[in-house]
Amino acid sequence: MAKKFYITTPIYYPSASPHLGHAYCTTMCDVIARGKRMRGFETFFLTGTDEHGEKIQKNAEAAGVTPQAFVDDIVNNKFIPLWKAMKISNDDFIRTTDKRHVETVQKIFSQFVKNDDIYLGSYEGWYCIHEETYYTETQVGPEHICPECGRPVTKKGEEAYFFKCSKYVDDLMKFFDANPDFITPVSRKNEMINNFIKPGLNDLCVSRTTFDWGIPVLEKEGHVVYVWLDALTNYITALGYLQENDEKFKSIWQDPETEIVHVIGADITRFHTIYWPMFLKALDLREPSRVFVHGLLMMKDGKMSKSRGNAISAYPLINRYGVDAVRYYMVSEVPFGQNGVFTPEQFVTRINQDLANNLGNLLNRSVSMIEKYYNGVIPAYEGEVTALDAELKAAAEKSIVAYEALNDGLKVTEAYQEVMDLISKANKYIQDSEPWTLAKDPSKAKELASCMYHLANVIYISGMLMSPILVESAPKIFDQLGIPEELRSYEAIKKFGNLGGLTVKKGEQLFPRLKEADEIAYIAGLMAAPKEKAAA
Ligand code: ME8
Repeated sequence: MAKKFYITTPIYYPSASPHLGHAYCTTMCDVIARGKRMRGFETFFLTGTDEHGEKIQKNAEAAGVTPQAFVDDIVNNKFIPLWKAMKISNDDFIRTTDKRHVETVQKIFSQFVKNDDIYLGSYEGWYCIHEETYYTETQVGPEHICPECGRPVTKKGEEAYFFKCSKYVDDLMKFFDANPDFITPVSRKNEMINNFIKPGLNDLCVSRTTFDWGIPVLEKEGHVVYVWLDALTNYITALGYLQENDEKFKSIWQDPETEIVHVIGADITRFHTIYWPMFLKALDLREPSRVFVHGLLMMKDGKMSKSRGNAISAYPLINRYGVDAVRYYMVSEVPFGQNGVFTPEQFVTRINQDLANNLGNLLNRSVSMIEKYYNGVIPAYEGEVTALDAELKAAAEKSIVAYEALNDGLKVTEAYQEVMDLISKANKYIQDSEPWTLAKDPSKAKELASCMYHLANVIYISGMLMSPILVESAPKIFDQLGIPEELRSYEAIKKFGNLGGLTVKKGEQLFPRLKEADEIAYIAGLMAAPKEKAAA
């Protein structure tokens, strides 16, 4: 039976348009999901939006519309179209205002109250509206500044429901110990333990009375469910948990063999690695297999954010360079798990060096030679005729194995670097084999045919391995090689030697070389902060 794989992005706040940072996280998840699907895993990929809370309510008021109209507009006109443009292959899109979500959260809340996991108390603390979080005296310091966003916090008190973390903290520590890979990178786990668990974990506030844009608490009028209990549960409400049709929930979440991966940014690690496993324990449900904390895509002047006005949109990049170039840039330039800085120079370099010079060139040269020497027909595979053939074939086979292992370990950037390395090797193989010299010597006909064959087969393999990123170009690579539908599968690339007799057909250049200076200037223009633009 196929192995099951469930991957999720954070559900983003639809408080404004998504920027390249949001697109980064969603694209990485998409590349992982497509890779798993291609390899035959039964894959479910979820993304969505986190629509409640005081901040959204305030933004809606400022815009003079209802919160529902406000989020509908941003979700339908900003998020969903961007994911379409980025060719995101999510299987579902959960909105926390969906009826299915609202009803399930209310059921979960009631169950927690009934089981004494949630109790009514009162809360006083330093509250940051922007982060929608209360902080302790120590966290805000004498200046009373939010430790996360640096904005001033205010002292606030209210009647509120609390989730009893104390009841589950021992279980959580045991779970951490038994599952050393649960939090990746592992440094994040130590951070969680040292910063939040060791000093003594407070119970988590799970309701609010100071605003009403949220899921009503059925137990007490005036309370709405506070965002994190509402937000985190999306990962199971989307599957049908506690709903009439809970088939997906049963088949995906309830199967202990399903690999469940939540991909998140560091800012929300605490919620996913401490409270989420506790909620699940209280519901008597299994934990996810892994929480992967990715890095940030930053600008030279720091974190990309709407409020700083340094966020860049994905659209102009997609329109000008194509979606594959943007997807490839993200995967290759920001090693998954580390931070990366967006610069126009690196963007152009990635496209030129990797896609135009390395991959594009290999395809062009190979197809041209097969047309020139064999009228476009790929010669039959006769095994490895030269030592160079044997070396290239071995490298290709090794790449497939490494690609699988790296992808399964979520070393996504490295997995695709492996493919780029194979493509470099194939280019070097052309230099070393010198097909133009072989072509002049009739006694080398066998070597020449074998060289053409090996090139075609390695491009075929590379095209398949790159296809989770290059969603538009991979089929074009196969078209140029004349690959029939039945050979366009991951399983098929594992058999070397299938391509003899196919007819190649030179097509458009997939990644035309960019004029560096012009394109750097163009992208730099997109990045100018609104303030600078206004001043200019
Ligand atoms: O925190 N680079 O939503 P959010 C890379 N609703 N990734 C970035 C990024 C950047 N510059 N900026 C944002 C929330 N992200 C909650 C989540 S989940 C149950 C609830 C990504 O709209 C990153 O993954 O603030 C981060 O964790 C997420 O967007 C936060 O999105």
